[in-house]
Amino acid sequence: MDLLMICCCAFLLTVSPAYSKPRIVDLTHKQDEDSITWPINPSYNFTVLLRGFSKKYNAWLENNFFAMPEHMGTHIDAPSHFSKDGWRIHQIPIEKLYGPGVIINVKSKAANDPDYRVSVDDLMAWEEKHGEIPRHAVVLMNSGWSDKYPNKTLIFGTPHHKDTSKFHFPSWHKDSVTWLIAKRQVIAVGVDSPSTDYGQTKTFPCHVIMGKNNVVQIENVANLDNIPESGSTVYMPVLKIFDGSGGPTRLFGTYDDEPNKTNAAMHITSATLYMYLLIAILIGERYSVLNLS
Ligand SMILES: *[C@@H]1O[C@H](CO)[C@@H](O)[C@H](O)[C@H]1NC(C)=O
Ligand SMILES: *[C@@H]1O[C@H](CO)[C@@H](O)[C@H](O)[C@H]1NC(C)=O
Repeated sequence: MDLLMICCCAFLLTVSPAYSKPRIVDLTHKQDEDSITWPINPSYNFTVLLRGFSKKYNAWLENNFFAMPEHMGTHIDAPSHFSKDGWRIHQIPIEKLYGPGVIINVKSKAANDPDYRVSVDDLMAWEEKHGEIPRHAVVLMNSGWSDKYPNKTLIFGTPHHKDTSKFHFPSWHKDSVTWLIAKRQVIAVGVDSPSTDYGQTKTFPCHVIMGKNNVVQIENVANLDNIPESGSTVYMPVLKIFDGSGGPTRLFGTYDDEPNKTNAAMHITSATLYMYLLIAILIGERYSVLNLS
């Protein structure tokens, strides 16, 4: 066995089990006829065209038709939704569809006040804990609202599901959205509730501000308890609907399970490598297996 081989074996043995595992979290509710949407929208349509054994192909065959509003369930709003010159869905650059995940937890506040709006102070509190919000971030409110999904009475805060003037659910304050865009250059802002403007809004200022600034919005996000408040990457793949103003997304996040383990593993690896090298040299010298002179 020569020196190189010994070193290679040592490296592989040491490093393989030590690497940390990246985790992936599904942030999307399933789409079906119960999916949450604004009352003006038509309903979800899923029609089975084929489901059975096909004699012609001698195989099981499934094929369906589906149709749905753009803004239903876990979906994104294109900037054009509330802004004439904003990007439509097919115009959103792919690099604006993922970014560092920032989760703002306002669960206890929203539990006490269904009209709660995320404040600049909430953002400051996050930065106090995790450091400055990274550029190009995807900032998501975790209000606990996804636990109510898809019960319309609980989500809209009223049994009158068609009367938007009675809606009560938490979302963003326009000052916080303005701050995130101006001071932190975020690319997307989302909520686990049905809208990036709170239930009692009359003018949808957050939609307007984000539309004007080509910021993507995400609504009805799921599972935010299962992703760290800081350190993830959030992806919002969306159907490339030509001229669309929004569309369903399979929102997901990834994060490093143990961010410090990789570094630790590298240190251990280098140390072990030197140790093996030293042993190899000593053995080599003793038995003259290696000619190092
Ligand atoms: C939705 O929640 C309300 C209030 O808790 C409850 O009365 C109703 O049965 C729920 N609806 C469904 C479909 O679970
Ligand atoms: C990782 O290391 C940094 C810097 O040494 C430390 O501040 C942080 O708490 C560590 N994180 C974990 C999860 O151990």
